[in-house]
Amino acid sequence: MILFFSATGNTRYVATSLAKKLDDQVVDLTERMQHGNTSPLHSQKPFVLCTPVHVDGVPLPILRHVASTPLTGNRNGYAVVTMGSFAGIAGRQAQKLFLSKNMTFKGCAEIAMPRNYLVGVFPAEKTESIEEKIRSAPERVDQVADVIAREASCEERHIPTIEYGLVLAFVHMWNRVGLSTKKFEANQACIGCGMCERVCPVSAIRMESGVPVWSKSHCMHCMACIQNCPKRAIEYGNALQKKPRYRFAKYSYVLKDGSSSVSRGRGR
Ligand SMILES: Cc1cc2nc3c(=O)[nH]c(=O)nc-3n(C[C@H](O)[C@H](O)[C@H](O)COP(=O)(O)O)c2cc1C
Ligand code: SF4
Ligand code: SF4
Repeated sequence: MILFFSATGNTRYVATSLAKKLDDQVVDLTERMQHGNTSPLHSQKPFVLCTPVHVDGVPLPILRHVASTPLTGNRNGYAVVTMGSFAGIAGRQAQKLFLSKNMTFKGCAEIAMPRNYLVGVFPAEKTESIEEKIRSAPERVDQVADVIAREASCEERHIPTIEYGLVLAFVHMWNRVGLSTKKFEANQACIGCGMCERVCPVSAIRMESGVPVWSKSHCMHCMACIQNCPKRAIEYGNALQKKPRYRFAKYSYVLKDGSSSVSRGRGR
C-alpha cells in the first residue's frame, strides 16, 4: 500500500507510478489528515510512505499522522522521498517511524524532483532543470519499484550521527519558528473559488466572505495553496513577486506518456 502526501504533484506522480508498477493501491494522506482520519490501514503488500522532504526531513504532520495510524498485514515499510536536492534526515525519521510500529524498515529511496518551495530566499528553479529532473524520474521510479517488488532493501545514503544530530536540532527549531502563516494573504485577483482551502492538508485556511483567511498561526508551508491557486492570487510578503508557480502537471509534457494520471484530483 502506497501512502502519499503531495502539495504540487511531484510525490503524487512517484506514488501513482509506483502503484501502477507494483499493482498496488494508493492512499492520499491529504484527505485523511484534513479529517483527522487515523483509522487502521491493512495491506498484504509492503507499506510505502511517499512524501516530499521539507527542510531536511519528513514534514512533522505527516510523521505524526502515520504514527497515529495503525498499519496491519505486511510488516515491511519503505520510505520514498522526493526533494529538490538534499533529503537530510528523512531516511532516519522514516526508520524510527516504522520501527515504532514494530515493522521492518527496508530503507529510504530518494528521488530528485523540481523544487517547489517558493517563499524562501532562493530564486525559482529554471525550466531546463525542472525538465531534466522530470525526464529522469521514470527510470528512478522503475529502479525503486523493482526493489520494492522483491521486498529487498533499498540502498541508502549513510547519515553520520553528527549530521543527524545537527540537522535534527535545526528541524526542531524550524518547526517552532519557521512555519508562521503571518505573511500569507490573497490579493485582488482572488475569485473566491476555495481551492486553497480544499488543498490545505492541515486545514489552516478558512473561506470567510469569499476570501481565504489563514486561521492557524502555523502551517506546513507545503505550498499547495500558493501553487494551486488558479489566479496566482496568494502572496507571501514580497517573496513571490515575479516567481513562476510550479505544479508537476504543467511539465508532464516532458514524459513520453504525458502521465495524465498525475493531474487527477483537485487540479494538481
Ligand atoms: C517547506 C519546504 C521545504 C523544503 N525543503 C527541502 C529540502 O530541505 N531539501 C530539498 O532538497 N528540497 C526541499 N523542498 C523541495 C521539495 O522537497 C520538493 O519540491 C518536493 O518534490 C515537492 O513534492 P510535492 O510536489 O509532492 O509536494 C522543500 C519544499 C518545501 C515546500
Ligand atoms: S485558490 Fe486563489 S482564487 Fe481561489 S480562493 Fe484561494 S486565493 Fe482565491
Ligand atoms: S496554508 Fe498553504 S502552505 Fe500552509 S499548509 Fe496549508 S496549503 Fe500548505
